[in-house]
Amino acid sequence: MQTPFQTLFKTAAAAASILIMNACAPAPEDNAGQPESETGDGDSNAIAKADFGETKAGEATEIYTLTNKNGLVAKVTTYGATLVELHLPDKDGNLVDVINGFDNVAGYEGDGNQYFGCTTGRVCNRIAKGKFTLDGEEYTLATNNDPNHLHGGGDKALSKQVWKAELSADTQAVTFSLTSPDGEEGYPGNLSMKVTYTLTDENELRIDYEATTDKATPVNLTNHAYFNLGGAGSGTILSHELTLNADNYTATDDTLIPTGKIEAVADTALDFRKAHVIGERIPDKEARETADCETSTLGYDHNFVVNGEAGTMRLAARLKDPASGRVMEIHTDQPGIQFYSGNFLMEQEGKGGKKYPFRGALCLETQHFPDSVNHEDFPSTILKPGDTYSTTTVHRFSAE
Ligand code: GLA
Repeated sequence: MQTPFQTLFKTAAAAASILIMNACAPAPEDNAGQPESETGDGDSNAIAKADFGETKAGEATEIYTLTNKNGLVAKVTTYGATLVELHLPDKDGNLVDVINGFDNVAGYEGDGNQYFGCTTGRVCNRIAKGKFTLDGEEYTLATNNDPNHLHGGGDKALSKQVWKAELSADTQAVTFSLTSPDGEEGYPGNLSMKVTYTLTDENELRIDYEATTDKATPVNLTNHAYFNLGGAGSGTILSHELTLNADNYTATDDTLIPTGKIEAVADTALDFRKAHVIGERIPDKEARETADCETSTLGYDHNFVVNGEAGTMRLAARLKDPASGRVMEIHTDQPGIQFYSGNFLMEQEGKGGKKYPFRGALCLETQHFPDSVNHEDFPSTILKPGDTYSTTTVHRFSAE
């Protein structure tokens, strides 16, 4: 069995090269973020729409503001069907934005964007060497996380496309839709997708995904929000307490591709069945960088097998920031959850000039297991014509 924290230098180098490959961001639009119009009936149901700037390719983007009766706010943009802001109260009622992001689309197209808040796919996480075989045909995808395929590939990954928005008349919900044509990013089938963000009055952010295809194809969609419950850009997440409802995880090689073995978390640094402070069992930045560090590691970047039956909603994760008292529970019908501790964050500048340091935020990405398309005994990610891909993840917020 591999040690939970193997050196992942290859992955780090690959991630760095992805970032370097991204071009510089154009100047922000002056009017980006300014409210334009509202819809809905009355204050609590009003959804404000604003310009979010033009992409480099000249496409217009919008940002929508959802507000619930308790004053929680979520903002989502058509660019990458992305969650841009999420304002949550602490134990004294003070609202703060808890996710990483940028002020306009130029930021999201810039080299600081590490999939912040986006809808990730067609297949999130990794596919070994960018290859899979389906119905006797071999498919080759971009190896954008050398030597593997990551988060849907290159320029036409879902996170880099402008989606269409549709507003709900009576709930705080926005539905984004996109059809990815047959062969896009190397994937088979015309894939039509819908992603709906709903902010409920029970202080939940609910994300519903739906997809259909005209040819068998792998699908694995997730949201890639980076959370810091103390406030985005307010320091690290090392003092957050995490509980994961997972007895097992998918062991990987040193390029983060599953070996196929499901290993127990018991007696490892991956055991979060009881709440643990995140920083407790990972080396600090200096230790990580010394060549003779025994557990030289980039930190957590693992897929956990959520206990209970996939396909039914159950608790996957609970995250608490003891300082502010903010708590987030994640419930999902997905079989897995990737816990990523912000190991590649690099002090990039985000919303309002805030900096996002190493381990300054974390992701809890509900999903099918990485590289499922190459592992017959993992729950299948293949969507067939006539079937509907449908999955839900609910983020429930409170303070204590
Ligand atoms: C995921 C991956 C990480 C990294 C981030 C984006 O969480 O598992 O290895 O690629 O996305 O930087």
